[in-house]
Amino acid sequence: MEQTPLLRIRELTRHFAVGGRVVKAVDGISFDVRRGETLALVGESGCGKTTTGRLLVRLAEPDGGSIAFDGTEITAAKADTLRAYRRRMQLIFQDPGSSFNPRMTVGALVSEPMHLAGLKRAEQAARVAELLPLVGLSADYAARYPHEFSGGQRQRIGIARALALRPDFIVCDEPVSALDVSVQAQVVNLLTGLQHQFGLTYLFISHDLRVVRHVAARVAVMYLGRIVELASKQDLYRSPRHPYTRALLSAVPSHRPGMTRRRMDAIGEIASADAVPSGCRFHTRCVHAQARCREEDPALRELAPGHVAACHLAESLPS
Ligand SMILES: Nc1ncnc2c1ncn2[C@@H]1O[C@H](COP(=O)(O)OP(=O)(O)OP(=O)(O)O)[C@@H](O)[C@H]1O
Ligand code: SF4
Ligand SMILES: [Mg+2]
Repeated sequence: MEQTPLLRIRELTRHFAVGGRVVKAVDGISFDVRRGETLALVGESGCGKTTTGRLLVRLAEPDGGSIAFDGTEITAAKADTLRAYRRRMQLIFQDPGSSFNPRMTVGALVSEPMHLAGLKRAEQAARVAELLPLVGLSADYAARYPHEFSGGQRQRIGIARALALRPDFIVCDEPVSALDVSVQAQVVNLLTGLQHQFGLTYLFISHDLRVVRHVAARVAVMYLGRIVELASKQDLYRSPRHPYTRALLSAVPSHRPGMTRRRMDAIGEIASADAVPSGCRFHTRCVHAQARCREEDPALRELAPGHVAACHLAESLPS
């Protein structure tokens, strides 16, 4: 029998009212995050990745749907139940530097979650001394200030802070996007190493399919508030079934000399989340769109074991 997933998300929705319009940031998404895996969430800017991440760690309130964490429904949990679960779920941001209080030392920044959780000062200090070397920083850095460090080092501080309360699940929201390419690999390797060491589960948000290829076990592709395809990394990169996934992959520059880009399967810019197209929300950009696509909203269907996609024509598209 399959283990209970660490997270079980069903029909999760989050809309924002902005100046009389409704922005459908997250519009009914369902998926599981398995224990110990890295599930990548990819898609263009504005498709709802960050909102999804914030909903999962309960930093944002859903309008509808459910989240079960470790078998317990936490969507409507009372404050004290939620507090216990919050410790187990953390978030790493794209640019930790901008969210750090510049007047706090590295030690104080890493201690803050422990302070808020009511740990004693001595315990906090001991844990900081343990955490800094774990993320590849000297324990002496605790007395220094974040501005003294490089972007990569600041991200290590952000990771130490996220680990402080020994979480099970971490949402990594574009954790390396602001870093130089040479530093990206180091931080990705650190995250992977920590995952193995502590059995962590990651939701890894990224718009960069090259980075995702290094870290993810499975990949979910998001378009205008919906998951349009989800599969193992191998299946997704080898045989993408949704035209949008194909378009994203065709836009990844190839490093092999002489390789030309594959034909684009999408045209134009992402539609706006406050004016989601009828039927298949991708039809305004899809080169395969037919009359049916403008009217019928395709459901996410299983096309092969563990491989789901939301496209009416998924079976008949050229491979
Ligand atoms: N607090 C908010 N109030 C109003 N609209 C919001 C809010 N947060 C997000 N949105 C809107 O919801 C949609 C999804 O935003 P979100 O930040 O989740 O996208 P994203 O995929 O993370 O984008 P990016 O790749 O640029 O980080 C966007 O249209 C955004 O403008
Ligand atoms: S349902 Fe139609 S418009 Fe949507 S992705 Fe498939 S072919 Fe394109
Ligand atoms: Mg984002």
